[in-house]
Amino acid sequence: MIEEELQIIPEPVKVSLNEGVFLLSQKTTIQVDLTSTGNGEYLKQVLALHYGLNLAFEEPSQNNGRKNSIIFKTSKEKELNNPEKYSLLVSRENITISATTSIGGFYGIQSLLQLIPHKALKGDKISLEISIPCISIEDFPRFKWRGFMLDEARHFFGKKQVKKMLDLMALLKLNTFHWHLTDDQGWRVEIKKYPLLTKIGSKREGTIVAQKKGVISSQKLKVPIDGIPVSGYYTREDFMEIIEYANERYITIIPELDFPGHTMAALAAYPELSCTGGPFEVSTRFGIHRDVFCIGKEEVFEFTQNVLDEVMDIFPSKIIHTGGDEVLRRRWNKCPECQNRINEEGLEGSENLQVYFTNRIADYLSSKGRQLMGWNEILNDNLNKDAICHYWTNNLKLVLQHAIKGRKVVMSEMSAVYLNYPYNLIPTKKTYLYDPIPDEYSKNYEKYILGIEACLWTEFVSNKDTLEWQAFPRLIAIAETGWTPKNKRNFDSFLKRLESFLPLLKAFDVNYPTKEEFLQDQ
Ligand code: ACM
Ligand code: ZN
Repeated sequence: MIEEELQIIPEPVKVSLNEGVFLLSQKTTIQVDLTSTGNGEYLKQVLALHYGLNLAFEEPSQNNGRKNSIIFKTSKEKELNNPEKYSLLVSRENITISATTSIGGFYGIQSLLQLIPHKALKGDKISLEISIPCISIEDFPRFKWRGFMLDEARHFFGKKQVKKMLDLMALLKLNTFHWHLTDDQGWRVEIKKYPLLTKIGSKREGTIVAQKKGVISSQKLKVPIDGIPVSGYYTREDFMEIIEYANERYITIIPELDFPGHTMAALAAYPELSCTGGPFEVSTRFGIHRDVFCIGKEEVFEFTQNVLDEVMDIFPSKIIHTGGDEVLRRRWNKCPECQNRINEEGLEGSENLQVYFTNRIADYLSSKGRQLMGWNEILNDNLNKDAICHYWTNNLKLVLQHAIKGRKVVMSEMSAVYLNYPYNLIPTKKTYLYDPIPDEYSKNYEKYILGIEACLWTEFVSNKDTLEWQAFPRLIAIAETGWTPKNKRNFDSFLKRLESFLPLLKAFDVNYPTKEEFLQDQ
């Protein structure tokens, strides 16, 4: 197949290979219009960094039909439903990237970069003229949510690594970075109003050596820990810097602050937010902790809203993820204040305290023009209609029932797209074959499934090399699922194209496993 010769990931919607080549060289110029100046700068930078080419800009009016340019065009035709659409035409004379928005233009660049033979990557012998095959591509994504989640609460990787992941996401046309920033084992967001969240909550004394099965009492069980301290957090300024970096790559950052469970780090700092009053420590163990926020106390709502105020001040994304996974009700069952809340609100039992909490927070976010997203445990017949459901496990049927009623859903099936699992449990093929629209799900409801997101939980991922090892190439497979039409996806074709993608990963200094390792158990 022609497309296979072209080696682009994600596979574009429509590609045709034409006769001849375009010769990219030091003499090639870049022409931009008003919409694409940022894209021109980005292309110039990447070509310099990875290919040792230093191209000049040229005004379209100076060109007079001369050849040898990379031309960005913003077309007037309004593709309202598809701002990410682009076309890429490589002829012997010029390369033309057309789109209706600068986002489309950016994705055109990403496809173009993959057409450059990898032997031209710096580090290999730099050729003076790089041959790019003449082709034409028409392309747009299948899903509008193509995400990657990084857990920096369990381990902290820092700005440099996050930027590197954003660079790699851009290459794969992934557009949503979901940032899991708080959990039992660490609080990573500076909040001016509650300084102890980072002073106390961002540090733990070590990490459990061996994972215990089941629910772990964080207070009583003395399981050995490694004694290696873990700490770190982001200031407002750090966030601003990373948000700008993501913006330049058309990536939206969705912050996640996990409430009302997975809150041991917050409770270590402010134990009065719990049912019992504590004291607590930032957890050194994993699993589900029984101490969670007390839903009976108004201070808990005040705290959560104040924290979210600062989060909304930092992050411009409409959607704010507030977690909501794995919340135990044991403390609520015994807490007089929680029981009081149940009686006052007519909630008929502690099983409804979570939706009470979620709805109040969802309403609060709505009043500020934002929208709540939470893990599938937030689902409930009474849940606020605008809340977005993030599916990860267990009750797919329930999730689909809610989607049928019009609720939006993002799919992160644990057994397919959780990148923290070893390759022998989730081989790359399994990840690739997973489709976010379940077979039994009728076409009418496709519009409610916003897309797919890969999750990398880092309980046992303590450094950047392991992080990258776990993510690549499975994240590449997920990027293709998010972008490429379902009927064009093919695992054998993907593997062939992956062969040419791996040198790009190398150029980005990514630590990835061998083919034998990432294809285990097949
Ligand atoms: C999750 O994996 N607890 C969302
Ligand atoms: Zn309580």
